[in-house]
Parts: sequence; structure tokens; C-alpha cells
Amino acid sequence: MSKLIAGNWKMNLGPKEAVTLVKKLQDRVLPKKSVEVVLCPPFLDLVPVKEILDRQKFKLGAQNCHYLDEGAVTGEVSASMLRGLVSYVIIGHSERRVQFNEDDKLIAKKLAAVARNGLRAILCVGENLHQRQSRLSVKVVVDQLTADLSLLTASDVDDLIIAYEPLWAIGTGEFATPEQIEPVISAIHRTVEELYGEGGASGLQVLYGGSVKEDNAKAYLNQEGIDGLLVGGASLNAEEFIGIVKAAQAAQV
Ligand code: PGA
Repeated sequence: MSKLIAGNWKMNLGPKEAVTLVKKLQDRVLPKKSVEVVLCPPFLDLVPVKEILDRQKFKLGAQNCHYLDEGAVTGEVSASMLRGLVSYVIIGHSERRVQFNEDDKLIAKKLAAVARNGLRAILCVGENLHQRQSRLSVKVVVDQLTADLSLLTASDVDDLIIAYEPLWAIGTGEFATPEQIEPVISAIHRTVEELYGEGGASGLQVLYGGSVKEDNAKAYLNQEGIDGLLVGGASLNAEEFIGIVKAAQAAQV
């Protein structure tokens, strides 16, 4: 299966700075079929970035969307508005779950909206530090998945990407070791298989995210069950991000 590297820029870089970063990346990244590289800038950067984007090298993603296609919802952006502009949408990032009280019920509706509009969701799941210390990592992630996927068909899940992002590893520099994440990655595959049948979602891709850097990318990319990486902080640094993309391209050889 091909690898996927996604850069989540979060609430960083205005349109001008975004275009500068994308140009820098485009100068240095060579396209390779086996690795899809997705850039997820803030909403207002999507149009200017799309105008200069080399589509052989990068695809665009949004960081969130509303579950309705249109309506009286001040300040929101719908998946139907994103159609034609992006190919991917991050759903259920822990920063949205924690800071905006997004629960699994809402996330399920957002995933349905993404599927209905023909886009691919990058669904984020993961446990917090307290839950990990209480040995609840697998349970938390399985519960999240079971609720989040409740409105999706097997063919929707075929297009889905699930990013396992332990909260204690996000933006902390405290990345999870391959041994720590192995049981959760296996549980993600097992849960989807149980819900949709063996081979029922053969296109599903599973990513790791949380303090990914050029230095640790290779270890995750070589790990069984991991099809790529969701990169936060390091995706804002051209050198680091290019290093991660190159590690993924090399891992395919
Ligand atoms: P980080 O963020 O790479 O800065 O830890 C990852 C994410 O939040 O997706």
C-alpha cells in the first residue's frame, strides 16, 4: 500500500507565508507515486495555495469542516464548500475534541459529511496521558472508533484514513515508541475488520502522529500496520518536513 504523509499546519501562517512555504517545499520535493503528500493549511490559505500548487507533488487537505452542507451556521465551513478545493479533511483532531468539545456523535456526522461529498477524511483518535497510565489506551481508541464510524458504510471506510495520535505525544516532543503504539495500531485494524468484515475496508490507511520529526519518522514508517504519518509542528519547518517526505519515499524502495 502507498504511504501518506500529511502536514497539519494548525492555526499557523497567513496566505503570504503559506505560499512561501509551499514554494520552498515544491522546489525540493520530487514526486513519487508510492507516497502521497498532503498539506493541510488553515482555511483561508487554501485558495492561494491551490493556485500555485504542483499537483504532481502535493494534495490539499482542510483541518475541519461542519457536518451540514450549508445553512445558518456563522463562522463554519462545510465539506460541500471544500469539494473541488481539497481532497482530504482532518476530522476529530484532539485539539478540536478538547478545546471545542467535539464528541464522537458530532465526529460521526462530520465523517458522514466528508464521505457524502467525496472527500477523504483523516480521522484522529488517541488517548490522553491519564488514560495511558491507567492502561486504557486500546479501550479508549476502540470506543472512539466504534462511535465515530457509526454512520459510515464499508465503501466509505475504504477511503478513510485513521491517524492514531496519543494526546501526550502531540506537540510535546515526547513521541511514542513503536512498542508503545503497536497494540493500539493492531486494535485499530482489528476494530475496523470486526465492524466491516475482513477485507471490507482494504483501502483503509492508518497513520501515526505526535512529535514526528525527521529523526524518528523512519522507525514508524517501517512499522507493521502503519501507512504514514500526520505531522504537526515539523510540517511548518521546510527542512524537517522534506526530510520526513524523503524518509517515506526511501522506505518504499
Ligand atoms: P505534532 O502535532 O507533530 O506537533 O506533535 C501532531 C498533530 O497534532 O497532528
